[in-house]
Amino acid sequence: MLITNIGTLVTNDPELGTLHDAAIVFEAGKVAWVGTTPPEAAGTDHLDAQGRALIPGFVDSHGHLLFAGDRAEEFAARMAGRPYTAGGIKTTVQATRAAGDEQLKANLDRLVHEALRSGTTTVETKSGYGLTVTDEERALRLADGLERTFLGAHVVPPEADADAYTDLVKGAMLDACAPHAAWIDVFCEDGAFDGEQTRAILQAGQAKGLTPRVHANQLRHGPGVQIAVELGAASADHCTHVTDADIDALANSDTVATLLPGAEFSTRAQYPNARRLLDAGVTVALAADCNPGSSYTTNLPFCIAIAVRDMHMTPDEAVRAATLGGARALRRDDVGHLAPGARADAVLLEAPSHIHLAYRPGVPLVSHVWKDGVRHM
Ligand code: NIG
Ligand code: FE
Repeated sequence: MLITNIGTLVTNDPELGTLHDAAIVFEAGKVAWVGTTPPEAAGTDHLDAQGRALIPGFVDSHGHLLFAGDRAEEFAARMAGRPYTAGGIKTTVQATRAAGDEQLKANLDRLVHEALRSGTTTVETKSGYGLTVTDEERALRLADGLERTFLGAHVVPPEADADAYTDLVKGAMLDACAPHAAWIDVFCEDGAFDGEQTRAILQAGQAKGLTPRVHANQLRHGPGVQIAVELGAASADHCTHVTDADIDALANSDTVATLLPGAEFSTRAQYPNARRLLDAGVTVALAADCNPGSSYTTNLPFCIAIAVRDMHMTPDEAVRAATLGGARALRRDDVGHLAPGARADAVLLEAPSHIHLAYRPGVPLVSHVWKDGVRHM
């Protein structure tokens, strides 16, 4: 596949940078060639991009797609003034436990497809709405093929005692779930798990070969970011309430700060200070945090628009965070960029540059999506 006449080609490659009037070749699911003087089109499919922009497929490194039902009424009540708390998770736990495998899988597929239509080609999903050994294990099993994170430590379910539940998560639940996940996450927050429980659960996961990521500092300041850095977590997610010490710790680590502005949008909370993080040298990812409670969106262009308008990220930084940043958070070097050898995961925009993703908010600018070189729309 040869694509020519690309007005703006965002490669995220340190050498190639962003090219204009460029071309790209996909071969056997990979990027085979990138440059400005296209090779002969003979023998391959050819698409004239007519000056439109091509960017890497979005890498959404934080989602909660394994659930049933929704919480539209809770959202409406929140917009009328009721505050967001971790307590709403229990409503979704009830609906998820009651759902059959087929229903859960159909909802997952619906969301993955919805994400693809807005340009997301790599998806991470967490468990966390089952909260029993069998319900957590089945959720992860149903998500085979995606990046999977075990989040048994989302909240303590209503029927359980906090200490006994923490032991279960570190023991039998982890044993059942570890074969179906690469990552382990804990919601470290008042009303969920404290610092001591978070550390113990993540260390148990590490002992089983899982790499930590942490829901950290979302609703108020807490120990989540420091624990993430201390344990070498791949990411500290949310990072809404952070101190200078937290930012320093992140800047001197390999832990990515994953910002989830859909959550602040839908809970009407203050956005994280992306500028402070970026200016300190922290690697930042943008993800959708799709879940039925705090952020029911799969749309990364929407998150990019918020990041630029309200979090003072430049369009370059925001698009990079939603592509290469997500790849870093998932420790993937095959996605998030478009250099020779990378996966041919790419998005053609109905616009001359990636800046339009923020400049034209809410407009469906995603025209074509390729995953592994195969065109899906
Ligand atoms: O990332 N913070 C914890 N988990 C989700 C919210 C889950 C829910 O409210 O159902 C989040 O925002
Ligand atoms: Fe989340």
